[in-house]
Amino acid sequence: MIQVKNLSKQFKAPTEEKGLFGPKKKPFWAVKDLNFEITKGSVASILGPNGCGKTTTLRMIAGMLTPSRGTVFVDSVDVRKDKQTVKSKIGYMTNNTSLYDRLSVIETVKFFAELNQIPSDVYMPRAEKLFDQLDMRKYLNKRIADLSTGMKQKTSIVRTLIHDPDLIVLDEPTTGVDVTGQSVIVDLIKSIKDSGKTLIFSTHQLNEVRDIADQIVVMKSGEKIFDGNNNEFQKLDRNKNFTEIFMELVNE
Ligand SMILES: Nc1ncnc2c1ncn2[C@@H]1O[C@H](COP(=O)(O)OP(=O)(O)OP(=O)(O)O)[C@@H](O)[C@H]1O
Ligand SMILES: [Mg+2]
Repeated sequence: MIQVKNLSKQFKAPTEEKGLFGPKKKPFWAVKDLNFEITKGSVASILGPNGCGKTTTLRMIAGMLTPSRGTVFVDSVDVRKDKQTVKSKIGYMTNNTSLYDRLSVIETVKFFAELNQIPSDVYMPRAEKLFDQLDMRKYLNKRIADLSTGMKQKTSIVRTLIHDPDLIVLDEPTTGVDVTGQSVIVDLIKSIKDSGKTLIFSTHQLNEVRDIADQIVVMKSGEKIFDGNNNEFQKLDRNKNFTEIFMELVNE
C-alpha cells in the first residue's frame, strides 16, 4: 500500500553566524534515507522525539511536501510523478488544525465535503456516524473559534475522513485532547482498521501504540532506528517495559 523509498528532505536552518540579511542558514537533513513499507489494512505508528522528522515524513507521504531525494509509492502511484492521484486517495490531518474560525462544526464538515464534490446524501450519513463515534453532538453548532483544542481536533478528524479515503494519515491525532477524547479517538482508529483501511499516525503516547499499531517505526534525527511489530519491539529487551525500551532506543 505504502512504500517509502530513500525518502529524504533537506531544509535550511538558521545558524549563529550573521549574514547580510539576518542569520546565515545552513542546510540539514530533516529526513534522511528513510525506507519502510506499510501493508494494506494495517495501522502503522511513527514515533520519535520532537524534531526527529515525523511531520516532515507524513507531509511527504501525503503529497503536501516534495522530497529532496527518494519518493513514496501509494498503491504503486509515485507521489513525485502524480501528486494529485495520491492526494485523492489520502485523508491527511496536520497537527496544526487549519479550520475556518467563523464556521460552525457542521458548516466546516459540509464545506470540506462539498469541496470534495461529495453529494450530501453520501456525506451526511458518514458525518452523522463520525459525530456519534467521536461524541461531538453537543457542539455541532458552535463556531470553530469557540471550540476547545480537543473539539477542534475532533472536527479536523471528521474533515479528514469525510471523503472516505483508503489511506489515512494522522499527525498526532490525540495531542491536546483529554483522556476521554483520546480513548474515543483510539476507538475510532480501531474501527477504521476494522473497515480494512490503511492508517499511519504519529504520536507521543506510547500506550496508544501498544494498543492499536500493527507496525512501529521509530525515528531519530531524521533516520529510522526501528521498524517492526509490537512483539519485535518488546523482544529488544524482555526485562524492560515499552517506555523503557523506547527511551533506550532514542537515547542511544
Ligand atoms: N519548513 C521547514 N523549514 C525549515 N526547517 C523545518 C521545516 N519544517 C520542519 N523543519 C525542521 O525539520 C526538523 C524535523 O521537523 P518535524 O516537524 O518533521 O519533526 P517532528 O518529528 O514532527 O517533531 P514533533 O514531535 O515536535 O512534532 C526540525 O528540526 C524542524 O525544525
Ligand atoms: Mg510533528
